[in-house]
Amino acid sequence: MAEKKERLEKILSNLGYGARKDVGYWVRSGWITVDGKPAKAASQKVLASQVMLEGKPLDHPHGLTLVYHKPLGAVCSRKEDGRLIYADFPERWLGRKPALSSVGRLDKETSGMLVLTDDGALNHQLTSPKHDISKTYAITLAEPLKGHETEKLASGTLMLDADDRPCKAAELEVTGENTANLVLHEGRYHQVRRMFAALGNHVTALERIQIGVLSLDSLGLEAGEYQTFESDKLLQMVVGL
Ligand code: URA
Repeated sequence: MAEKKERLEKILSNLGYGARKDVGYWVRSGWITVDGKPAKAASQKVLASQVMLEGKPLDHPHGLTLVYHKPLGAVCSRKEDGRLIYADFPERWLGRKPALSSVGRLDKETSGMLVLTDDGALNHQLTSPKHDISKTYAITLAEPLKGHETEKLASGTLMLDADDRPCKAAELEVTGENTANLVLHEGRYHQVRRMFAALGNHVTALERIQIGVLSLDSLGLEAGEYQTFESDKLLQMVVGL
């Protein structure tokens, strides 16, 4: 899509740089250039790609999408108490419109791969059952696996407490006495923990290691680190194109 001209004050406030009224001051102070020339007014209609603030191009002016390695103990929320995932990103990102939001959530005590985006279509594609983008989890269990789990999880008959329909078939790959990887094709509240509770075991550690065919390992992100992507490029990597 061709880039559209917008008012300078709107561009900068929607990217979280500050309030519209601040932009006039920045213009008068000579901090903003448009296509290399000093900006004339906050109301000037410009292309975001031609704007520089204090000599720097604007931060992701055409959308923001990232893959984040969520650390243990961080909460996927903007408001709750405690350590929030947003503390790992530039503060300005919290002021962006449209808002940057996580694609689904990981529990506080789950680590691993989380996508954040302001692209509603990408969010929908990664979560909607129609597109069936699998999520893979590495699991550590309190008790050794008994042997019946793979078949039960694959059967599509496992019922969870308080749910009125069984879980979709899921693939379990046993990696040790009490460790396994599980591939899910849906996302319910605390799903992996509740699935193993229904199988008579208890999850002691949980990490999301892959979304679609894109693994966290392949990105080389340490806990708390993130990498930004064009949203269509990320979708291609997730579906394996
Ligand atoms: N399943 C869970 O139990 N927790 C998560 O965070 C993700 C999947």
